[in-house]
Amino acid sequence: MNIPLVDLQSQYLSIKSEVALAIQNVLDHGMYILGPEVSAFESAFASFCHSKHCVGVASGTDAIHLILRALEIGPGDEVILPAFTFVATALGVTQAGATPVLVDVRRDDALIDPEAIEAAITPRTRAIMPVHLYGRCCDMDAISAIANRHGLKIVEDAAQAHGAEFHGKRAGSLGNAAAFSFYPGKNLGAYGDGGAITTSDDALAERLKLLRNWGSRIKYHHEEPGLNSRLDTIQAAILAVKLQYLDQWNAARRRWAALYGELLPGFGQPVDHADREPIYHIYAVRSKARDAELKALQAAGIGAGIHYPFPVHRLKAYNELAVKPFPESDAWAAEELSLPMYAELTEEQVRHIAARLIAIRTG
Ligand SMILES: Cc1ncc(COP(=O)(O)O)c(C=O)c1O
Repeated sequence: MNIPLVDLQSQYLSIKSEVALAIQNVLDHGMYILGPEVSAFESAFASFCHSKHCVGVASGTDAIHLILRALEIGPGDEVILPAFTFVATALGVTQAGATPVLVDVRRDDALIDPEAIEAAITPRTRAIMPVHLYGRCCDMDAISAIANRHGLKIVEDAAQAHGAEFHGKRAGSLGNAAAFSFYPGKNLGAYGDGGAITTSDDALAERLKLLRNWGSRIKYHHEEPGLNSRLDTIQAAILAVKLQYLDQWNAARRRWAALYGELLPGFGQPVDHADREPIYHIYAVRSKARDAELKALQAAGIGAGIHYPFPVHRLKAYNELAVKPFPESDAWAAEELSLPMYAELTEEQVRHIAARLIAIRTG
C-alpha cells in the first residue's frame, strides 16, 4: 500500500468540475488582476476567520512582509518569533527591514514559549509573531498579556492554521493582523502561490490594499512605494470553491488525528490543549531514532516527512541569529517525524501506517 505524505490529486478529483467552472468564468470575463473573484473570496475568508477584513496577496511570505510595512515596523525594529518554524516567518521580517529575534519553543507542544518571549523583549521590540505551527494555536492568552504589558503588536503567522481555534476564536482573529499562505499543500491550498492577510483594523486593511498594489488606489496615482503582491484572480476563484469544503476537510483531519492518537499513544505527539481546536496541517510524532524510522516508513511505501529538519538559527541564511542556544527547537528539529495527513485518507490507511510505525519502533 503506497500512501503519500499529502495527496493533492485525490482532493482535486473530488472538486474537479467546480474548479473547472470557476476558472472558465475568469477566462470568460477576462479581469485577470483583482477581478471580482478576489473581493468575493476576501469577504468569505474574512468571515471564515472571524475577522473583519481580508486582503489577498501573492504569498504568505509577502503577507508577513506587508503587515510589518503597514504597521511601520522596519529598520531598527525587532520582531520576536520562534526558532522552530519554517524559514519564511523570519524572511518576511527581514524583507520588511526589521530584525528577527528568535526565542525557543516549548517541549510539550512545539509552540513559541511565552516565558522566553518576555525575556527577549528590548526597547527596540515592536511585535511578537506567534506561529500556529502544524495548525495548532499558540498560547494567545499569555502572548496577549505580554503584548499589552509592553505595548507590542501581535502578528500571527497563521500560514498553517486556516480554521484552527483558540477559545472558540479562529486563527486570523487573535492579534492585530495575521498572515496566511495558500501554498498548494496547505489545508486551504491554491493551485499555485497565494496568501492573505486578515485584520479587524479598518485603517490597516486600507493601507494593505494600497501596499499590495504598487502603493496605488487609483491607476497611475502612487501614494507610496508598494509591492506588486496581489492574490491572482484565478487562484481566488479556486480558493473560493475550496473554502466551502474547508470545515469538512479539517473535521476529517481531526478524525484521522484522533485515530492516530488512539493507535499511537505516547509517540511524542505535541500535546493538544483543551482550550484549542487544531486543524492538523501536519501530524507530528517524535522519536530519538527519527531518521531510521523515516527511512523505514519510506521503504514501506509510506510518505513520511520532517517539519523541519533545521530550526531557523541552524540555517546558513540566519547563522547570525544563533546568539544563544535554543535547545527545545534543536530537539524538535532532530526528532520530529510527520505522518501522512490529509482529509481523503481512509481508516484502513491510518491503521496501516500506525501498525508499520509500531512494528518499526518495537523492532
Ligand atoms: C509557518 C509558515 N510561515 C510562512 C509561510 C510562507 O508562505 P508562502 O509559501 O505562501 O510564502 C509558510 C509556508 O510556506 C509557513 O509554513
